[in-house]
Amino acid sequence: MSATRQLCASCGRDSPDTDPHTRCAQCGGLLAIDYAPPVLGGPALRAVFDARLGVRRGPLASGVWRFTEVVLPDAGEHVLSYPEGNTPLLASVAVAAWAGVDGLLLKHEGHNPTGSFKDRGMTVGVTQARRLSVRAVACASTGNTGASLAAYAALAGLPALVLVPRGQVALGKLAQLLAYGARTLVVRGTFDQCLELADEASERLGVYLLNSVNPFRLEGQKTIVLELLQQLGWQPPAWIVVPAGNLGNTAAFGKALEEACQWRLIRRLPRLAAIQAAGAAPFALSFRDGFARRHQVEPHTVATAINIGNPASYERAVRAIQRTNGVVTTVTDDELLEAKAVVDGAGIGCEPASAAAVAGVRRLGREGVIGRGERVVAVLTGHLLKDPASVTQYHQEREPPPPHANRPVEIDARLAEVERVMSGRLR
Ligand code: F0G
Repeated sequence: MSATRQLCASCGRDSPDTDPHTRCAQCGGLLAIDYAPPVLGGPALRAVFDARLGVRRGPLASGVWRFTEVVLPDAGEHVLSYPEGNTPLLASVAVAAWAGVDGLLLKHEGHNPTGSFKDRGMTVGVTQARRLSVRAVACASTGNTGASLAAYAALAGLPALVLVPRGQVALGKLAQLLAYGARTLVVRGTFDQCLELADEASERLGVYLLNSVNPFRLEGQKTIVLELLQQLGWQPPAWIVVPAGNLGNTAAFGKALEEACQWRLIRRLPRLAAIQAAGAAPFALSFRDGFARRHQVEPHTVATAINIGNPASYERAVRAIQRTNGVVTTVTDDELLEAKAVVDGAGIGCEPASAAAVAGVRRLGREGVIGRGERVVAVLTGHLLKDPASVTQYHQEREPPPPHANRPVEIDARLAEVERVMSGRLR
């Protein structure tokens, strides 16, 4: 029998890792995966992970399954990998200067197969679905989870059902849902309503739910942290900064850091900073109350990925912030769009929600929470091309043009016109 267990965070019920329920069968609480500690710890475990950096084919070439001992040790032949992960950790003088934090690095999760960090959780989620021999998979999504589910389900030959809020999904993501062949339900309602519906429908229809309430998703997402630590030679940064919506990532990062310390992969905990859009910031409200109570809001932000009013992983994200002496803050839509223009203009590019992390670094730097010289890793969660409309809107449509607007210039097909523009007269 596997030594990996699922523990209910609410009532403590213990079930095997092959139990097919995505919530506690007794009380409906959220489950967490619990491991027997890996046989090796500290330098020996780091050496195992580092030795796999040269692997070119098969699951161990994946930036998720390279850490298999602390992801899903008994996955065996069920592993379904694109592969994913192995995303770059980038330095940009321009972005660091704008943020006012010299030691800023960007972990670019937009370099995953479907263009967001979701692939790291999905490879594990769909692997678990195969292990359980489920007949179909489902999720609610603001777009990226759905795109990832659709692709991995197609790779596995499983039917996929995705529920998205009407009018609130960026074009690139919607295109992926259709292209990868998911049965796509456009719901007249919010993401939070989609999630409730997906939860109920999956139970009723016997379809395996692969939202981040599913604990196996979070096990995969832990590897964002493990991989960035490895890229830093296992020298932890002072801060890890992440955009926060449904709080799956915040929760996964907290778990990864706690375990990394427990297993002596690192000796010191970085601090976590979760950044919300000001118009969709229930978690930041709770943080300001000292987590005295859980808030719900009606969300409104241009960053559709994190347009969420009632985050599902609230409790485990609270734990992540508390255990890492972390902070939660907000940035306005204007701030995150400016951050996005700077990240894009530096040649790196990301989607609006991702830019919230960079805007958050600037805000925390200005408030003196993050020091100018500290090593900070901000996670860019999604690719620039996920949301092309936000780009054309910013650069072409907004009046007056925002600070970094790069307006295209229309001309007649004559050389004189090109010369006129290039001599600066039309600018
Ligand atoms: N960044 C991007 C690009 C996202 O797609 C999401 C979440 C987040 C940040 C926030 O992460 O929910 O773990 O706090 N997208 C989900 C989806 C909700 O359906 O694709 P979180």
